[in-house]
Amino acid sequence: MAAEAGPISKVLIVIAMQKEATPLVHKFNLVEAPAHQSTFPKGAPWVWYHGSYKGLHIDLVLPGMDAVLGVDSVGTVPVAVVTSFSIQTLKPDLIINAGTAGGFKAKGASITDVFLASDVAFHDRRIPIPIFDMYGTGARKTFAAPNILKELNLKVGKLSTGDSLDMCPQDKELILRNDATIKDMEGAAVAYVADMFSTPAIFVKAVTDIVDGVKPTYEEFLQNLIAVTTALELAVTKVVDFISGKRISDL
Ligand code: ADE
Repeated sequence: MAAEAGPISKVLIVIAMQKEATPLVHKFNLVEAPAHQSTFPKGAPWVWYHGSYKGLHIDLVLPGMDAVLGVDSVGTVPVAVVTSFSIQTLKPDLIINAGTAGGFKAKGASITDVFLASDVAFHDRRIPIPIFDMYGTGARKTFAAPNILKELNLKVGKLSTGDSLDMCPQDKELILRNDATIKDMEGAAVAYVADMFSTPAIFVKAVTDIVDGVKPTYEEFLQNLIAVTTALELAVTKVVDFISGKRISDL
């Protein structure tokens, strides 16, 4: 981790889907690390892009494609393992978990809104035994970045994470209990790993679908994915531009 005193030099961007990552790879002029340069273990499908942008070294990692099915390895387990390995080998000063999310219109979310998550928690780890219940929920505050919020036009809200795109009644109940405005499939897992290794992490999530709306989630998600990745790219660029030259304590 960076000396608290010095400016931030290494940023790790963690993204689940290639379609979410590609605009940022182009924006920051990142190149994919060839296998011989990569320290990733043989067999891991993880993808690593890197480059320099406005005085920052940027690493962007993805959990990669499922080896059998050839789709993005979305969800908590793949993102946790790639984040863990990336923190240990790339030693970032700051993590940005960027991606898409479902939003609750009752809490003020609209399609293409970009949120900075103030808190994260899980909604599908139900363990009804005292203390284990809290462990399951895994609620934690994210690294506070009041100046990013003040300077950039981002919304702020709580993020709830689970391994399903849809929402069953039990998930809904826990999402409400988590007081979440947005819902994703990775954030709380990234936060767990980042906390384990004392690395500050921020969560930038763009809304592709309205969970408490009328359209089926998967339909709305697929329909809006490409347009929303542009909103995500703009927001992450603004965040990275802001970070350039700053110290962790300036955020
Ligand atoms: N990513 C985008 N939309 C989502 C949703 N509704 N639930 C979980 N992850 C998402």
